[in-house]
Amino acid sequence: MYKDKILNILRSSRSAFISGEDLARKIGISRTMVWKHIRSLERDGFGIDAVPSQGYRIVFEPDILRQHEIKTRLKTRVIGKEIHIFSEISSTNTRAMEMALAKAQEGTVVIAEMQTGGKGRLGRKWISPKGNLYLSVILRPKIPLHKAPLITLMGAVVVASAIRKVCQVHAVIKWPNDLLISGKKVCGLLTEMSAEQDRIRHIVLGIGVDVNMDLEVMPADIRKSVTSLKSETRQKINRTVLLREILRDLDHWYRVILHDPDEVLKEWKKLNVTIGSWIAVSGAGEVLEGLAQGLDTEGRLLVKCDDGTIRTVAAGDVTILKR
Ligand code: BTN
Repeated sequence: MYKDKILNILRSSRSAFISGEDLARKIGISRTMVWKHIRSLERDGFGIDAVPSQGYRIVFEPDILRQHEIKTRLKTRVIGKEIHIFSEISSTNTRAMEMALAKAQEGTVVIAEMQTGGKGRLGRKWISPKGNLYLSVILRPKIPLHKAPLITLMGAVVVASAIRKVCQVHAVIKWPNDLLISGKKVCGLLTEMSAEQDRIRHIVLGIGVDVNMDLEVMPADIRKSVTSLKSETRQKINRTVLLREILRDLDHWYRVILHDPDEVLKEWKKLNVTIGSWIAVSGAGEVLEGLAQGLDTEGRLLVKCDDGTIRTVAAGDVTILKR
């Protein structure tokens, strides 16, 4: 894309001006076309100095996710071949489910800068201001229906590993799919599925990571229990770099889960803080207390209660107790 080529040249020249003529020659388009692309970059939010006898230079870059940058050196096999970016949308999961129904290719990624109707687990809202990552990925895994919950666990493995690599912070998983840093939630995952009999038609894996938002925008009642990567690292995080790592890790772990789901469970166990802890699980109208002993092969939590019985929990909210 010419616009991206212009951007790359202007970026590499840093604060020096590049003439319209040079840009036109390097890219092989007319000066008028260069000017049109410069205007389009300005509409995208870039601040560009245009001085008649000297040329152009970038003075300000907006913090937006751009398709071309995400795809640069992405090198994935399935995930992110097709990427759709929205500045605002109701929910990336809802849009991805619609696209999946309309036969979108496997690995298609839907991204939004903000969501007006972001969805959380158990019918909750996911507050989605600017500055974070909101993405949903369409998958068509050839695994039995009863193994579908493993896709969410895989998502948690993927994002925890990506955060650790890119931000050098210790993100851990709380069953089934919350990511925590220093005990506070930094990411949530929501999978939605369409299935028939014992066959999965498609799964949408939705990921919300609190990256650069100011915690003040969160409602007071949940502010104490959430965090952002910026607040943990005291640095603004490059969302494109983190997103690319998430897509690459997902490409890797998706291949693994199709051939050896147990590998994903093994990795999940290495990254989790639930197993071995005393917990309370709430769900289905009851609260269960006990020792989180392990997972079964379908990713359900095994809880050993005080009376010695072992209960299998498929869904719920876990609180880690100090005991
Ligand atoms: C949770 O922890 O409750 C799950 C939150 C999942 C939020 C993500 S943001 C991207 C995708 N689109 C949505 O509407 N929800 C998921």
